Amino acid sequence: MRKKIVAGNWKMNTLLKDGMELAKAVESLEKEKSSDTLVIIAPPYTHLSRVNDLIEGVKLSAQNCASEESGAYTGEISPDMLVSVGVEYVILGHSERRAYYGEDNELLNKKTKLALSKGLKPIFCCGEVLEERESGKLFDVIREQISVGLAGLTKEDMDQVIIAYEPVWAIGTGVVASPDQAQEMHKFIRDLLVELFHQEVAENMSILYGGSCKPSNAAELFANPDVDGGLIGGAALKAEDFLGIVNAY
Ligand code: 13P
Repeated sequence: MRKKIVAGNWKMNTLLKDGMELAKAVESLEKEKSSDTLVIIAPPYTHLSRVNDLIEGVKLSAQNCASEESGAYTGEISPDMLVSVGVEYVILGHSERRAYYGEDNELLNKKTKLALSKGLKPIFCCGEVLEERESGKLFDVIREQISVGLAGLTKEDMDQVIIAYEPVWAIGTGVVASPDQAQEMHKFIRDLLVELFHQEVAENMSILYGGSCKPSNAAELFANPDVDGGLIGGAALKAEDFLGIVNAY
């Protein structure tokens, strides 16, 4: 059975002290949560090792990783380095990485395979920009991102993957996808997984929604049969809001 998951992507926010306080607050609220939802946080790289010492019930994710194993890649952080400080998950293919750092589907495929080979579980993001939605290309874009980004993965690899659908027009804009828009795309993604992988892969895959998700709109999004949780940006920076979303299930 697929898991319900709420993950917080802190992006480039919080200094170490605030980040540690936020992690502690999320950990203590997580203990009181009413459901079996898996809670993940993705602080900046600089905080990961210290935050790992503060959390137990909450799981740790990085926001990116290198596409190479080790060596002369100044400024990069390898999957092995992340594992060595207690990281279990890694967000890959976030639209901000795609748009601002030129990460394309081929590079993301390389990162995904390397991360998996090192024991990290990818939270693989996909999403269309507004023009792509308005011109009716949205399903082609998502098909391309998933079929190239996850190409060559085995059924066993796919058991370790989480997919996040984050329509770019909804990220940080306050414009949330309607429950019907989210369900329509999540169903499309699940059907695509049957076609590309296997029925079981599709049934077991947690598909998260991301983009202006808040405590006030989470319940109606999560009520959809193919929405298995959320990848949260802004609202993950306040422990009460973040756990409000977790408790929306
Ligand atoms: P917001 O929740 O701030 O819209 O960000 C979503 C996101 O990009 C999570 O990865």
